[in-house]
Amino acid sequence: MEIIELDPADGDLVSGAFEVQRAAHAADGPENPAPHAGNFAKGLVNPPPDEDEAYFVAVEDGTVVGYLYIGLPNRSNLHFGWAYLIVHPEHRRRGVGTALLDHFLAYARARGRTEVTLDTHMTWEDGVERDKAGQLFLEKHGFKLALTVINRRCAVDALDPETERDLLAKARAAAGDEYEIISWIGRTPEELVETMARIDSTILAEVPLGDLELEPETIDAEIKNARADRNAAMGVTPIQTVARHRASGEVVANTAVFTYDDDAYTDAFQGITIVDPAHRGHRLGLLLKLVNLALVRENRPGVAHIWTDNADVNAPMIDINVVLGYEIVDAGGEFQIKL
Ligand SMILES: CC(C)(COP(=O)(O)OP(=O)(O)OC[C@H]1O[C@@H](n2cnc3c(N)ncnc32)[C@H](O)[C@@H]1OP(=O)(O)O)[C@@H](O)C(=O)NCCC(=O)NCCS
Repeated sequence: MEIIELDPADGDLVSGAFEVQRAAHAADGPENPAPHAGNFAKGLVNPPPDEDEAYFVAVEDGTVVGYLYIGLPNRSNLHFGWAYLIVHPEHRRRGVGTALLDHFLAYARARGRTEVTLDTHMTWEDGVERDKAGQLFLEKHGFKLALTVINRRCAVDALDPETERDLLAKARAAAGDEYEIISWIGRTPEELVETMARIDSTILAEVPLGDLELEPETIDAEIKNARADRNAAMGVTPIQTVARHRASGEVVANTAVFTYDDDAYTDAFQGITIVDPAHRGHRLGLLLKLVNLALVRENRPGVAHIWTDNADVNAPMIDINVVLGYEIVDAGGEFQIKL
């Protein structure tokens, strides 16, 4: 078995790496959103602006049996690194996972990283039962659970129309007219980029991170535009709704759902929802999510479910999601080791 860097121009290796992900999805979590071949291939040649990425495959007799995806932040959190590691279900318990993990640890160490994480599926409460392989594998290699996120799924028509209208009316009344609600599809309107960068910069400070030692990243207009270019290149379209505080002109609450430009793909992904601490208690979180949900239905009729993951301790966000009809599927465990 050899580990080689995945060349995005090598069609056989790219399909082999995708096949590992497809087979693992079918074996480990068929309820979860399926990997998307187009999105995977485009991601290889469109790295995010604030992260160095590297891709490796484990190859045995010409067949890809394992896949390793490494991300190293390159603007802030330079001590940190993460990876996603997956072994084809038919090739497990033969040391492929350990070889890929060793490769990642050496790669991260060589670049001065001192804290790294990998994540794996876990069972959560009354959700779907998940295999313990990932957890046992990581614990065997000395990793400790640092953060648990719960994966929930919501049918886009989970609420009956009357309940949804009623919730929306109550949320609008609670928000009052201090706020202007603005929605868009795709790129952030030019006049909002600066204020959106400000609220995006608060994300890491506001989101529960468990034992992960991450510093808030400053998001500026340049990064926001680069991310928007990347989404466009990858066929990903965000559907977004914000609240602008009329008095200050600042965006003080934001929610976004990411969708694939593929009518046959039935899942969409909830991105961050954030309300500035000074503007909490006005039902802005619920209001934005309801307005955005209607937009998802209108603009992406093929989407059946929206997926979200929240830290298990993020009670205010979870309360909103439960009202909207989100149901637990499973959890993700973020396992950490210090190098
Ligand atoms: C977790 C995963 C990567 C392990 O890959 P692998 O090639 O089977 O791992 P290895 O053969 O190197 O296993 C090393 C050790 O991990 C532990 N381990 C791995 N799978 C295990 C399982 N199903 N049950 C119990 N222990 C397990 C064992 O201690 C094993 O040593 P042993 O086989 O001598 O007992 C693979 O099961 C997988 O792809 N799972 C789904 C994706 C996932 O959860 N990835 C995140 C983990 S980083």
